[in-house]
Amino acid sequence: MILQTRGIGKTFGSVLALREVSMGVAAGQVTCVLGDNGAGKSTLIKILSGVHGHDSGELLVDGEPVRLTGPRDALDRGIATVHQDLAMIPLMSVWRNFFLGSEPRRSFGRFDVAKARRVAREELRAMGIDVRDVDQPVGTLSGGERQSVAIARAVYFGARVLILDEPTSALGVKQAGVVLRYIARARDRGLGVVFITHNPHHAHPVGDRFLLLNRGTSLGEYGKAEVTREELTALMAGGAELERLAHELGRE
Ligand SMILES: Nc1ncnc2c1ncn2[C@@H]1O[C@H](COP(=O)(O)OP(=O)(O)OP(=O)(O)O)[C@@H](O)[C@H]1O
Ligand SMILES: [Mg+2]
Repeated sequence: MILQTRGIGKTFGSVLALREVSMGVAAGQVTCVLGDNGAGKSTLIKILSGVHGHDSGELLVDGEPVRLTGPRDALDRGIATVHQDLAMIPLMSVWRNFFLGSEPRRSFGRFDVAKARRVAREELRAMGIDVRDVDQPVGTLSGGERQSVAIARAVYFGARVLILDEPTSALGVKQAGVVLRYIARARDRGLGVVFITHNPHHAHPVGDRFLLLNRGTSLGEYGKAEVTREELTALMAGGAELERLAHELGRE
């Protein structure tokens, strides 16, 4: 297990955002975190990525209990997070965005533009991402392609764990499929992936383990063999409500 929580908890003032949550992610596996709005998904990944400290329980990296001092600390340990806003600059080219935030490499000498372009192109291709022109502004890419560039960037810069906060939530079926394919590709390259989503249809095909959160508490972590997509849907907070809603909205 590269990254693990044991009975982890977090409160914000009087709000108990997370209580006794245990989960893990192993190399070459995808752990899906499912739950309804306010379930604590983002709070959990913020703990994993060093944004928030935890109040109780343990966070383990390579089996050792740690206290992350911040996002930089997480990154130095190979834990990379692709946030929903992606931290990309739309008017900048694909290759510039690819190298955004990696300025320390300039200490090797002058920033080598030709090399940066070539690396971006090669890395995107290695992930199977077909960007026609790395000089085109990132803003001209589709949402799915932008997510894919962010994933390729994390892989290139040495991530061992890739955390994705709802990368498919704003996407249509086809685009979501594209992102799911890159998640599988990152997994096949040996990364541990934490994939946050509302959608059991996105989680089930690609996931190896499934953590279900409901109002800050865990409904359990299940292996792929232990749970069907239908069971995931039913377990998700809102599964039962959706059934009821379908009845309510249906015509008599
Ligand atoms: N910084 C904060 N200060 C106070 N309360 C917070 C803070 N962050 C989260 N919370 C509360 O913690 C709970 C869990 O929030 P969280 O953002 O983790 O949910 P989520 O599962 O990511 O929801 P969504 O699907 O809407 O993104 C919520 O009740 C939220 O209001
Ligand atoms: Mg969230």
